[in-house]
Amino acid sequence: MSATQSTFPRWIPLLGGLLGSTTCGLLLYAFSVFIKPLMEQFGWTVAQVSMAYALICLFFGLIGYVAGRLNDRFGPRAVVLVGGLIMAFGFFMVSTITPPDKAALLAGDPTAKAVSNTALYLFYIYYGVIAGIGGGLVYVPPIATAPKWWPDRRGLATGFSVVGLGLGSFVMAPLATRMIAAYGGTALPVFKYVGIAMALMVVVTALCLKLPPFGYRPAGWTPPAPQMHEGGYRDYRDYTHSETIRTPQFWLLWAAYFCGSFAGLMAIGLIAKHGIDAMSTVYRAQQGLDAAAALPADVSKQIAMLAAWAPSTLAIFNAAVRVMIGPLADRIGSKVIFIVLFTLQCLAMLALFPAGKSYVLLAACAGLIGWNYGAMFTLFPSTLLYYYGPTNQGSNYGVLFTAWGVAGFFGPFLGGKLQVMTGSFLVPFIVAACIVGIATLILVMLKAPEKKLA
Ligand code: 2OP
Repeated sequence: MSATQSTFPRWIPLLGGLLGSTTCGLLLYAFSVFIKPLMEQFGWTVAQVSMAYALICLFFGLIGYVAGRLNDRFGPRAVVLVGGLIMAFGFFMVSTITPPDKAALLAGDPTAKAVSNTALYLFYIYYGVIAGIGGGLVYVPPIATAPKWWPDRRGLATGFSVVGLGLGSFVMAPLATRMIAAYGGTALPVFKYVGIAMALMVVVTALCLKLPPFGYRPAGWTPPAPQMHEGGYRDYRDYTHSETIRTPQFWLLWAAYFCGSFAGLMAIGLIAKHGIDAMSTVYRAQQGLDAAAALPADVSKQIAMLAAWAPSTLAIFNAAVRVMIGPLADRIGSKVIFIVLFTLQCLAMLALFPAGKSYVLLAACAGLIGWNYGAMFTLFPSTLLYYYGPTNQGSNYGVLFTAWGVAGFFGPFLGGKLQVMTGSFLVPFIVAACIVGIATLILVMLKAPEKKLA
């Protein structure tokens, strides 16, 4: 066997990517199920609880830079193991936060208020900061590792390394909802037991992740032949990290990623609320009720259930696209796919407002938005691989991924603010569509950088 081959089965790092991203999925995308129980138990407002989510997005995204550098220096196993244990620790520690006495809090007791405030800061630190930092350290290394084992199917390998963000939330949302109900309405045991499960999952993830030998070629695969240049046949080499971040293409990608994530997260956070609002308006109009009239409880419940189709459909498409789009990107390259999906995203966001009146149309729009949003997490890393090569993918993608972190901190916040300020969902959806429009123009201008000769 040549030095560029390995007996290590290459589906194992793929499994590592799947498992690592699923652990991050447990952490991030099911957060909405915790909002109400935490508010009730600790006396926090929606804005206060939501700030924890903004913080986790920020730290998860910004630490991507460090995660990538560490990955390229120490390899994925150590980074995922340490990061994963930090993530599990932060998540677990939420379960140790002391809640205030509810009756005293309701009666306005200052001691109970102080306990509630301290608990809020601890929640920010354990969940937003510590678990966020740990999560980012788990998220980036598999994205940089699995494609090195799959030089023939890089898009596919990238897709497997991010698909778990969707899968994790499928598991977590119903699991946490049931556990919260079983423990009498408190979310704290979820943080305890899922935190322990996360620790076990990241140990297995770390074991699955190992780097292939330098220049690895899977059996039966021949890399593209060296090209004829002045002075004979010359091979290409990968960009170094500092060369990568000095190309304009890299920053165009950053800007497009930022706009796509910002607009996506801004709209996604409002879709279900918009459905409830629009369907309630239709019901009032049909019944000849006043615009501010309260709806009967059973009608409100039914509308909420119908509106919930939208986030569920979005979640399914957000997960499925991540593995489905990779092979297509491997075949036809990412630029065309980017332009088609970003154009569709712009149209879907423009259609969101009128679609809110019908739960079927709203779910269809949400599914399309989830599809286009989820595709970014496979397409952006795959494009980097194609432009700059796999050698420094950890560091390169780590910097690119900070775009998502900044977008995750500000996007939902701006969406909520615009909705409250204008009293309508139309403005945030139009603004989101315009932001995606800007990203589309950026992607149209994008041209692959010149290859570097070895
Ligand atoms: C993703 O969905 C974490 O948002 C990132 O893959």
